[in-house]
Amino acid sequence: MTQLSDRVLNMATSATLAMAAKARELKAEGKDIIGLSLGEPDFNTPDFIKDAAIQAVNDNYNSYTPVDGYVELKDAIITKFKRDNNLSYKHSQIVVSTGAKQSLANIAAVLLNKGDEVILPCPYWVSYSDIVKLNEGVPVEVNTSIENDFKLTPQQLEAAITPKTKMIWYSSPCNPSGSVYSKEELRALADVLQKYPNIIVVSDEIYEHINFIGGHASMAQFDDMFDRTVTVNGVSKAFAMTGWRIGYIGAPEKIARACNKMQGQITSGANCIAQRAVITALNASPSRVQFMVDEFKVRRELILGLLSDIEGFKTNVPEGAFYVFPDVSHFFGKTFKGQKIDNATDFSLYLLEHANVATVTGIAFGNPDCIRISYAASQEQIIEAIKRIKEALS
Ligand SMILES: Cc1ncc(COP(=O)(O)O)c(C=O)c1O
Repeated sequence: MTQLSDRVLNMATSATLAMAAKARELKAEGKDIIGLSLGEPDFNTPDFIKDAAIQAVNDNYNSYTPVDGYVELKDAIITKFKRDNNLSYKHSQIVVSTGAKQSLANIAAVLLNKGDEVILPCPYWVSYSDIVKLNEGVPVEVNTSIENDFKLTPQQLEAAITPKTKMIWYSSPCNPSGSVYSKEELRALADVLQKYPNIIVVSDEIYEHINFIGGHASMAQFDDMFDRTVTVNGVSKAFAMTGWRIGYIGAPEKIARACNKMQGQITSGANCIAQRAVITALNASPSRVQFMVDEFKVRRELILGLLSDIEGFKTNVPEGAFYVFPDVSHFFGKTFKGQKIDNATDFSLYLLEHANVATVTGIAFGNPDCIRISYAASQEQIIEAIKRIKEALS
């Protein structure tokens, strides 16, 4: 009998993908499921980017690519970092990967030794914890509160640091809470880190452009943090390119070189056609994709308004990304037709079964009281989904 490794046996299945699979299964059985579980824009990749890909096919871009990315793509990334973030990276500090997920996997693989701790403010993006564990690191989950907009305070950071702390990972705008750290809030965290010069910051900024308050702040913008921060970004969300699989980092040179080495033995360079298309995407003005952000903003208002009408949902006001992360603990302990809701997973499954709406349990994001609802869906779908949820909960 085949014996699988402890590594994979101890790994959790991605809850977002699992929920999407379950919703697909029910759809196949003929159920009218509204999917609000997945984290991808419901727009097509803009035509000017698709045209660049078609051009690349016709120009015979078909060979292996440099492991860390085409030099023209690195040029575009360097320009983007300067234009959007006022960050000055050199070519040797950039590594292009097969999605930001691989960028994160590379970082964990090159920095973690067994037992090294990684501070994860909760809620965190679903894969952080398992990527850390896969690399024998120890996730140190720090609970944040809805009252503080799910943001880590300097005091909480300080209290979580131990001699084994190697890194802190967070996303801003945050998946799943939509929280956006201001420059002042990041500075306050950086001030704590001044006392611990060996801790590396991994700043996941993949939702950078989906920001409703304007003004994105990066940890690496502080001169005293630049040499110890890895800035992770990608095109999946801002350009509606989730399937193209391109992510990248700007990092201290030593870390970037190590990621290059690691990737060279595992996947090599990212897809050639996708890279050519991303050159065009990143060289374009962010205003070309502003229409998606505008639409997400309208939907945010819509869903917040509808949810405020349901008793028992407590929600922060997300300032970016395309999720709401309501606290639904009000419903825990309640029973319907013999089915008891004890936690966020039960609640999410209840909604799937009784409202035909797919959401994701907060447990997957390190928060057992909340569920994540994605509003990367049409306004009609959102209205119908929340109506069904309201009915199912009454
Ligand atoms: C916070 C965060 N980081 C990273 C990723 C991975 O993005 P990519 O599609 O580039 O692998 C996601 C995707 O959902 C995300 O939400």
